[in-house]
Amino acid sequence: MPSRYHEVYDGWVSNPEAFWAEAAGAIDWFKPWDKVFDAEGGVYGQWFSGAECNTCWNALDRHVQGGRAEQVALIHDSPITGTQKKFTYAGVLAEVNALAAVLADQGVGKGDRVIIYMPMVAEAAFAMLACARLGAIHSVVFGGFAAKELATRIDDATPKLIISASCGIEPGRVIAYKPLLDGAIEIATHKPEHCIVLQRPQLTCDLIPGRDLDYTEAVGAAKAAGRKVECVPVLATDPLYVLYTSGTTGQPKGVVRDNGGHMVALTWTMENEFGVKPGEVFWAASDVGWVVGHSYIVYAPLLHGATTILFEGKPVGTPDAGTFWRVISEHGVVALFTAPTAFRAIKKEDPQGTFVPQYDLSKFRTLFLAGERADPETIKWAELKLGVPVIDHWWQTETGHPISQNPVGLGLLPVKYGSPCVPMPGYDVRVLDDAGHEVGRGTLGNVVVKLPLPPGCLPTLWHADERFFTAYLAEFPGYYKTADAGFVDDDGYLFIMARTDDIINVAGHRLSTGGMEEVVAEHPDVAECAVIGIADAMKGQIPCGFIVLNSGVARDTGAIEKEVVGLVRNRIGPVAAFKTVVTIKRLPKTRSGKILRGTMQKIADREDWKMPATIDDPAILDEITEALKARGIGV
Ligand code: COA
Ligand code: AMP
Repeated sequence: MPSRYHEVYDGWVSNPEAFWAEAAGAIDWFKPWDKVFDAEGGVYGQWFSGAECNTCWNALDRHVQGGRAEQVALIHDSPITGTQKKFTYAGVLAEVNALAAVLADQGVGKGDRVIIYMPMVAEAAFAMLACARLGAIHSVVFGGFAAKELATRIDDATPKLIISASCGIEPGRVIAYKPLLDGAIEIATHKPEHCIVLQRPQLTCDLIPGRDLDYTEAVGAAKAAGRKVECVPVLATDPLYVLYTSGTTGQPKGVVRDNGGHMVALTWTMENEFGVKPGEVFWAASDVGWVVGHSYIVYAPLLHGATTILFEGKPVGTPDAGTFWRVISEHGVVALFTAPTAFRAIKKEDPQGTFVPQYDLSKFRTLFLAGERADPETIKWAELKLGVPVIDHWWQTETGHPISQNPVGLGLLPVKYGSPCVPMPGYDVRVLDDAGHEVGRGTLGNVVVKLPLPPGCLPTLWHADERFFTAYLAEFPGYYKTADAGFVDDDGYLFIMARTDDIINVAGHRLSTGGMEEVVAEHPDVAECAVIGIADAMKGQIPCGFIVLNSGVARDTGAIEKEVVGLVRNRIGPVAAFKTVVTIKRLPKTRSGKILRGTMQKIADREDWKMPATIDDPAILDEITEALKARGIGV
């Protein structure tokens, strides 16, 4: 069947407001909008202004009332703890009602912020939905971040309350969350009034009397009392959540997501882009701490009336490289969404794909990969072993849903390896040179999106309109800067090649090298430093730090390097995967003092490089090459 993509995309081009108004018909509104798009509102306009709605209502209540009460809404599948639990829509609603009642008892109401710092437990999703029910704004912080990062987010979001757990579980170790939580509150200037802590049997923790509540006790009591909380009507333009993502400095950006546009956009993507029907099982193997987890573990599947899986495990080692196939067969998954790095990990462990035929994958239709560039080798391997289409799609925390993709639901377009396919309705993608002029097909440039951004994208940064404007809208007036470099080919297919800023992508996790440099520079023996992302066969990229020591430092460089590694792990967290530090005599710089990070990266990645004309002293690059070689990097 020919794809309907061009017809649908052209329909959006000819009347964007009519397109989104029709899509909005899939959502229950308490009050209709005054304007589909209000060009005067917000920083660049606002979607569905004047409308009132509630995201939790649309994700749960209306499905319960509409005949899905007994359908499984959420499956917690945790090979790492050896447990599994299924919750129907009615079951999730009961959990969320009870938690919302507990939150309300603690004074949480519309517009208040609640930080959620939790591992991959079902309660993390309940917490998000309970906030949405009350009109409170949640901010989920990924469990792999250290206390300092949590503290930065506490100070920016100023939450009334934090919901956390006693521990997270990584292969081979239990991670105590409570010391991280208490440490973060200690460091932060803002102090939340209360914490609700889920005690997990693997490691319980002490609670601080007067401040901390036991999740199970409090929610259990509310459930036993049959407590319910009405969904609080919020404006479509009110924030649903703030999700912090790496910026170009150590100060993360608080990406704001609104309620109305977000529901409309996500619901549209489920059927049209992901080809999933209500009642089917969809699995995004990510973490609720990332945008993929927000959009495609929690909100989109539930808004759509599908069944979602919250998976607490890894693609390999929990217990083996067949885990993904086991989950797909056991729960009848029709589509899996994960990062290419997960497939590289599986391929490394089981190159022949011997685990695949051990499971019944007959219901499985499509594999979606995003979060980093999907290398053609990985795509081809997955296609061959699984026998289903493998869809690379491109998006960002900021957009909340795919900018470009092969739209399965509209009918597949021909696949081009290395390309995340074509722009989705809502996105007018252009490629500009540094002066802001559009470049020709096939020419590499800055990938931008013509304003306005579609519903579901960030309207601004939390309490930082000016920073939002400067970071995204100022450089190319009239466009949103994605900070990705790429090109469009003659068939209109996009190719996303690299970031234009200091962001690197480590195992699908977005990290700022600038943020790492700020931490490295704090070491008392370090005079100067640079952190770059270097190629890694499994994680895509990993950070590599270069340090120049203060003159007169006579200590063992190996010991200093270890301390620097420890510093980054303690400040940013293990997720940074910062394990390599190389001591050098000098950093290569231009005559105006700019560090030549790009050239250093090319040397480390064994790419062709040219001696920059403006380099201060060419001999430094030889020194870098030798230092890297001594570590087995770039040889
Ligand atoms: N809490 C505490 N620590 C965490 C954590 C969490 N929630 N998540 C990760 N970490 C730790 C890991 O234990 C690891 O620590 P280590 O340095 O002591 O080994 C470190 O952070 C790096 O973690 P990770 O990036 O997960 O690497 P890994 O080597 O443990 O696993 C993969 C590699 C490819 C298996 C893993 O990255 C993966 O499953 N990726 C899937 C992609 C994904 O989820 N992407 C998100 C966006 S779609
Ligand atoms: P995040 O905000 O964590 O989702 O990271 C967004 C960034 O990841 C993008 O700006 C890209 O640099 C990169 N990215 C995500 N998906 C893809 C993809 N399919 N192809 C290439 N790069 C991608």
